[in-house]
Amino acid sequence: MQPKDSILITGVNGFLGNYLTPVLLNAGYIVYGIGKGMRRLPIIDKKFQYYDIDLTDSYSLQQLFEIISPNIILHAAANSKPDDCELHQESAYTINVQSTKLLLDFAEKIKSRFVYISTDFVFDGEKGLYKETDEPNPINYYGKTKLLSEQLVTQYPFPNTIIRTVLVYGKPLAGRQNILSFVYAKLQNREPVQLVNDQYRTPTYIKDLVWGIKEIVEHEKTGIWHLSGDQPLMSPYEMGMQLADTFELDKSLLHPVNHTTFKEIALRPRTTGLHIQKAQTELNYRPTPFEKALKKIFT
Ligand SMILES: NC(=O)c1ccc[n+]([C@@H]2O[C@H](COP(=O)([O-])OP(=O)(O)OC[C@H]3O[C@@H](n4cnc5c(N)ncnc54)[C@H](OP(=O)(O)O)[C@@H]3O)[C@@H](O)[C@H]2O)c1
Repeated sequence: MQPKDSILITGVNGFLGNYLTPVLLNAGYIVYGIGKGMRRLPIIDKKFQYYDIDLTDSYSLQQLFEIISPNIILHAAANSKPDDCELHQESAYTINVQSTKLLLDFAEKIKSRFVYISTDFVFDGEKGLYKETDEPNPINYYGKTKLLSEQLVTQYPFPNTIIRTVLVYGKPLAGRQNILSFVYAKLQNREPVQLVNDQYRTPTYIKDLVWGIKEIVEHEKTGIWHLSGDQPLMSPYEMGMQLADTFELDKSLLHPVNHTTFKEIALRPRTTGLHIQKAQTELNYRPTPFEKALKKIFT
């Protein structure tokens, strides 16, 4: 296959980056990957080049853009830990907003397309099943930084895309756990787990998200796109119960808690979940049913 466009992906060491990078390489793109510190994804492909760069360091980015000129920039890196963002707002702003601004400035010089990965946490959680046209209103600092970045992206004078997703789950290839892999490990070790039962999401299987992103990139879609699992809305407790049921693990280890008893530093929106009809209609996006995805991941 002849290489097609070149694409710069930030956050390649992260959960999404680990899955997205090989898929875009297999689709024929030349991929430049930015990660912080040592490379943590096992890819050997002459179309892939890894760069250890802190995205808050404009000088390093400038040096990079002197040697590469990607057609597409896909910005997935972020501090995506809401409590950490709430506690360390200055650094969260630098990582989540300032780095987006820097990347957009470099992108503009070479007229790259810009794709930004965002979150359901831009919404306040009062309504649920948010459409692309719904008004954001973040209630924690992480959500605010992601919305500020979205606003910068929409002002970008060349083709730009915002992809929002929600509670992504799957087998971590490297790095930190996600909620379901964490609960699965706890249940297998016969350890108790507390899970919130009054917040609702449409959880997203990582491979579905990656498929949707690839389609959006390949078909040069612009504007806002919502990619998540389909309904019904589920609480983390319900997800845990279904996981335990599917693998005949001990459900009595799962303890429901609510937002008043389970205190977290950053406020969490009560009911998010994304309305995905636009992706279903225009991309033929067909997310894997929750139980089927669980079986694919953990068996
Ligand atoms: N996972 C979800 O449930 C979810 C839901 C909605 C939206 N999102 C969005 O999806 C995107 C990807 O999330 P993810 O789950 O893959 O998160 P992740 O695993 O935390 O990956 C983010 C990556 O960004 C890197 N990064 C952070 N600061 C950086 C910096 N200053 N310079 C260079 N790299 C930096 C991190 O590096 P280190 O590994 O070295 O820390 C990490 O590898 C994020 O934009 C997030 O907001 C995720």
